[in-house]
Amino acid sequence: MKFVVADVADPALASEIGEVALWHDRAVLHFLTEESQWRGYAENLRKAVRVGGHAILATFALDGAEMCNGLPVRRYGAEMLTELVGEGFELVRSMDYTYHQPWGDPRPYVYALFRRVG
Ligand SMILES: C[S@@+](CC[C@H](N)C(=O)[O-])C[C@H]1O[C@@H](n2cnc3c(N)ncnc32)[C@H](O)[C@@H]1O
Repeated sequence: MKFVVADVADPALASEIGEVALWHDRAVLHFLTEESQWRGYAENLRKAVRVGGHAILATFALDGAEMCNGLPVRRYGAEMLTELVGEGFELVRSMDYTYHQPWGDPRPYVYALFRRVG
């Protein structure tokens, strides 16, 4: 097991993490609001997930909160996530899920599972 502490949008990350069978992200991607950031994230994901591997992405949904902890977020639908991961990934399943914060606020998420097919 190897732990890497890094900016997930940094192009240098790809060579550091190498190939993975599973990319799992809950509530990180939506903080990447600059285009260069979410494109960098997608590039790293595409380089890291091996053919036959999977990516699970969970972000604030299109009808979700616009801010989190005082920070702006970029919200997604399953189609946007499919576009983000790009060619070579097939959408296996997506679902809406509303997480409730400990104090009760609803936080609508979209979850999407992708398989790398090529
Ligand atoms: C709301 S927390 C989610 C933590 C956990 N995944 C969960 O579901 O509870 C958001 C996390 O994204 C991390 N984060 C935000 N921008 C990042 C970036 N550019 N690179 C790596 N991590 C980042 C923050 O450090 C924080 O740990």
